[in-house]
Amino acid sequence: MADKRRFELFATFLTERFSGARRVFDVAGGMGRLNEALTRRGLETTTFDLRHKHLPVRYEERPFGISEPCNADLVVGMHPDGATRLIIAYAALHRIGYAVVPCCSDNGLPYKPWMRHLAELARSGGLEANEALLPMEGRARVLYGGPLAEAFATNISLA
Ligand SMILES: C[S@@+](CC[C@H](N)C(=O)[O-])C[C@H]1O[C@@H](n2cnc3c(N)ncnc32)[C@H](O)[C@@H]1O
Repeated sequence: MADKRRFELFATFLTERFSGARRVFDVAGGMGRLNEALTRRGLETTTFDLRHKHLPVRYEERPFGISEPCNADLVVGMHPDGATRLIIAYAALHRIGYAVVPCCSDNGLPYKPWMRHLAELARSGGLEANEALLPMEGRARVLYGGPLAEAFATNISLA
């Protein structure tokens, strides 16, 4: 059973670690409870998930995909299951910050190897792969970061 405090704890974490972020994509956000917590903290948040019944928050009732136009400076997911790698790939593609609290893998890997795999995926996409732990029960490790400085530098052309 997932910890009911996870949305408030993650929202606090995000506002502390990404203090410059203003617009957030909350991917695989279920009912929209993380959205509610982030909106209360002043962040413009859009949740993507398929639930017909959800909280009255800014909500896109459809799957999130890599081709989603990027009008966010941070993409996040709490226990986003099959969307976990997608969130990291999206952050790498658009050079924005990301934070995920992974739960189940989508490729059969147990939790610890799954966490290592996600960190490698982030680094290979030119992103930081920092780790933190939310003070809650269950799957509580956060993988997060922004674009790596050197990867960013390779995108700069002085010609
Ligand atoms: C374990 S639930 C977590 C929901 C919520 N974040 C929470 O912590 O209660 C995983 C969710 O991922 C959603 N999901 C998986 N892939 C997705 C995608 N590509 N786009 C949007 N939602 C997705 C599912 O619909 C499901 O609601």
